[in-house]
Order: sequence, then C-alpha cells, then structure tokens
Amino acid sequence: MNRSPRPPSSRSIPGYRVLRTLGRGALGTVHLGQREADGRFVAIKWVHRDAGASELVREAEITAQLVHPNIIDVIETGSLASEDGGDDLFVAMEYCPGGDLQQRIQRRGGSLDLDEALSVTRQLLDALAFAHASRIEIDDCAACGVIHCDIKPQNLLLGTAHEGGPLVKVTDFGLAQAAFAGAGAAFGTLPFMAREQLEGRALPQTDVFGAAATLYYMLTGSPPRDFGVALAPEHVVLGRAPIPILNRLPLLPPALAGAIDRALHDSLSERTPSVLAFQADLGF
Ligand SMILES: Nc1ncnc2c1ncn2[C@@H]1O[C@H](COP(=O)(O)OP(=O)(O)O)[C@@H](O)[C@H]1O
Ligand SMILES: [Mg+2]
Repeated sequence: MNRSPRPPSSRSIPGYRVLRTLGRGALGTVHLGQREADGRFVAIKWVHRDAGASELVREAEITAQLVHPNIIDVIETGSLASEDGGDDLFVAMEYCPGGDLQQRIQRRGGSLDLDEALSVTRQLLDALAFAHASRIEIDDCAACGVIHCDIKPQNLLLGTAHEGGPLVKVTDFGLAQAAFAGAGAAFGTLPFMAREQLEGRALPQTDVFGAAATLYYMLTGSPPRDFGVALAPEHVVLGRAPIPILNRLPLLPPALAGAIDRALHDSLSERTPSVLAFQADLGF
C-alpha cells in the first residue's frame, strides 16, 4: 500500500492556499497552508481515504479534546473529493513557526544548553500531566486519560519565544492510548521507546521514559541506549539498558543526572512512577 499522498495543488483544499511541505511522518505529509478568509497560517495534515484516514480522524478527535497551552490546537477537520473519486481527509492545526525540536537541535549543532532543555522539558511535562489526568473519549473508553506513546523531538513543535526558550506544543497523538490497565502499544520510535512499549504495554510511565529520553537527547545529542552496536534496534531496546547520562556528560549536576536516570529505568518498579514524580524530581 502506498501511504504517501499525492502532493496537493493550491486548489486542493477549499478555503486554504497550500504553500509548502513542513514535514513527513508515518501517516503522510504535513503542509503549510493559509486560510483565505483571514490569512491565518495553518499546518494541514492530509491523507487519502485508504491510506490512514480513520487513524487521522482518531488522532484529530483525541487532540481536539486536549485543550492545553502546550498541546497543539486542532482548527478544523474536513473531507473533500479526490481526483480519483474517493475521499481525502485533512486536519488543519495551529502552525508552529519554529518547526520541530529535532530541527532545532540540529540547527544548534546537535544539542541544547541546559536552560533551554529544561524549559522544553517543563512544558512537555505540563502537557503530559494534563493528558494523563484528562478524562476524554478515546476508543471504547468514555472518560480516560491519554498516554501519548510517541514522545520524541520530532513530535514537539516550537512556537515563538517563551521564558528561557521556545514555546512547546506537543503534537502527533496518532499512537496515543487510553490510560487503563492492559493498554497495548507496540508501535513507536525505537530510540525513544520504553521497553514495555515494545513488549506491547503502555502506561503513563511509558511517557515518563519518552520525556526523559528526549531530555537526555537534548543534552547529549544521543538517545539513552547505544544503537551503534551490531544488534537489531529492537534487540537493543529489549536487551540493553540506557547508558547513565553522567557517562556521556560527566559535568551534569548529579541530582539532575539521577532524576534522568531514574526516569529511564527499564524496570517499572524502579522507574520514576509518574509525570508528577518526575516534575518533583527535576525541581519543577
Ligand atoms: N503544526 C505544525 N507546525 C509546523 N510543523 C509541523 C506541524 N505539524 C507537523 N509539522 C512537521 O511535520 C512533521 C510530521 O508531523 P506529525 O504530526 O508528527 O506527523 P506524523 O504522524 O506523520 O509523524 C513534524 O515532525 C514537523 O516537522
Ligand atoms: Mg510525528
């Protein structure tokens, strides 16, 4: 199955001018658009009916219910007839002019300074605490918390300046799971993925790992596990422990290093138990 949508023309979405490509991911391509009515810039995620439309609708419905300053806003969801007579689906979201965090890390030479990394993490954890404690309609659950399940630099978007760094907006709830016992999730992004997720289990602690792995990456330029070994990446996640951050960054304050390492434990009983506990550990 070809999952990449045809590039839209400027006439493709009534009411919007499509300007350029912003990024690519699992479901398709995200485009910068401009709403004709008021000139507002938006990010448009667009898929063909048989290439993940139900996933895109699910993602938009979850995201739209999570109204928080550090979670992306959904502006509009719509469908339109495509050239082959089928249906295309699109979601227009708030546009983040700073791009994603991975792009920013690259622009800054591979890592961020401590103040900025902590500012991003503070905002990320606010968003996650909110999502975990929310009670939204998701899948078969009428009022459940949400586990993001794919926290990583590409899924953190950046707006304009905020105290100590850019404003962070969490996006891409495409893999999100309802927070109840037994929630399954095998997909995700291996360098930022907790072991239990690869084993098919998602918990709020799975996002604690993702957030800590993202912080580790911002500070060191590397994910917590060493994927540079002659092992398939899945086997690295299942068989290798994260490398203590002081091994990579010996001058990091020991209390901060301890908080990061605890949040990256493979064993759930030893890992920081919740986003709130991670916030407390980091002194937020
Ligand atoms: N609202 C937005 N503003 C700016 N860039 C965006 C926006 N949404 C997505 N992007 C870019 O597109 C990429 C893919 O978007 P994402 O929602 O993560 O889709 P996928 O599910 O395909 O990974 C992001 O990593 C980012 O670079
Ligand atoms: Mg993504």
